[in-house]
Amino acid sequence: MGSKKIKIGILSAGGDCPGINAAIRGVGKTAIVEYGMEVIGIINGFSGLVQKDTIKLNEQMLSGILTLGGTILGTSRLKPYKAGDGEDVNDKPDLIKKHYEELGLDALMCIGGNGTQTTAAMLAKEGLNVIGVPKTIDNDIWGTDLTFGFDTAVHIATEAIDRLHTTAYSHKRVMVIEVMGHHAGWIALHSGIAGGGDVILIPEIPYDLNLVNECLMERSRKKKPYSIVVVGEGIEKASKKSAGAYIAKQIRKATGLETRETILGYIQRGGSPTATDRILATRFGAYAAKMVNERRFGSMVALRNGIITSIPLDEVGGKLRLVDPTNGLVEKGRYLGVCFGDCR
Ligand code: F6P
Repeated sequence: MGSKKIKIGILSAGGDCPGINAAIRGVGKTAIVEYGMEVIGIINGFSGLVQKDTIKLNEQMLSGILTLGGTILGTSRLKPYKAGDGEDVNDKPDLIKKHYEELGLDALMCIGGNGTQTTAAMLAKEGLNVIGVPKTIDNDIWGTDLTFGFDTAVHIATEAIDRLHTTAYSHKRVMVIEVMGHHAGWIALHSGIAGGGDVILIPEIPYDLNLVNECLMERSRKKKPYSIVVVGEGIEKASKKSAGAYIAKQIRKATGLETRETILGYIQRGGSPTATDRILATRFGAYAAKMVNERRFGSMVALRNGIITSIPLDEVGGKLRLVDPTNGLVEKGRYLGVCFGDCR
């Protein structure tokens, strides 16, 4: 790289989450302060590389963003290797490579979820110096024990469940709350246990509605004043309704118990990150800059057994890290009598 300053490009892609700005700050400040590198931000994920839409990131730009939700760079769900509607020729990957060179980049940081890491792996195969930084509230990225965004989403969902207890008690109702997580049940499992859910339904454990309704009727027979049902959005359902609305309707129909649903939605992706997410995002970002300094490309930063490390990108793409039904937390929930919809 000669005497020219090493130049890093940073992009954030896919669904946003609290902690992305902490990661951008971690990469940027480490690169500038520790390694004397130059940093540019790429606007709105991979589309910023296709459009060559960038912004210079100096220490001033990185100041004050640690606690800020969302991403100062913006994001998009553009998949460059996927031809757009009506597009005969997909020239996006060539444009990305061309603009990577024209911008004089020595490394590209891709902060994102599964789709982003898959794209990052493909760009690495085409010779770009790429490093992946895993982020998502879903916590479903293969190769890392944890992603930032997850702790904040669990915190938000748990606080919502806490609030549902009081209104459920007042009205003697069954309260169903649907939380995010895509195909994984991590948010539902963790917020369900933290929030004292009586029933927790996750995509990874097939449920039997009869067993769910039997559990709720048993609680009613025991004069339990109310029940809380936590549902992961990705569960199987025989309806186009949202998972929460579907389960609430089935419970109401089968048991006659007064039932209401809450779809928590994008609140789980908003606002300031928890301290845990700020710390993890900072650790990931700083380590990613260190990897650039050591010219270790083609890998994703990861947390493994409490240690920050890296894993080759081609081991990550196309896989999901789902809840193992024999997971220790599921087991402890069963000890406490939590119904996962699969057994009496
Ligand atoms: O991946 C994060 C996530 O919030 C999922 O939990 C959810 O299913 C999805 O994004 C929603 O996607 P969008 O933001 O495109 O509506």
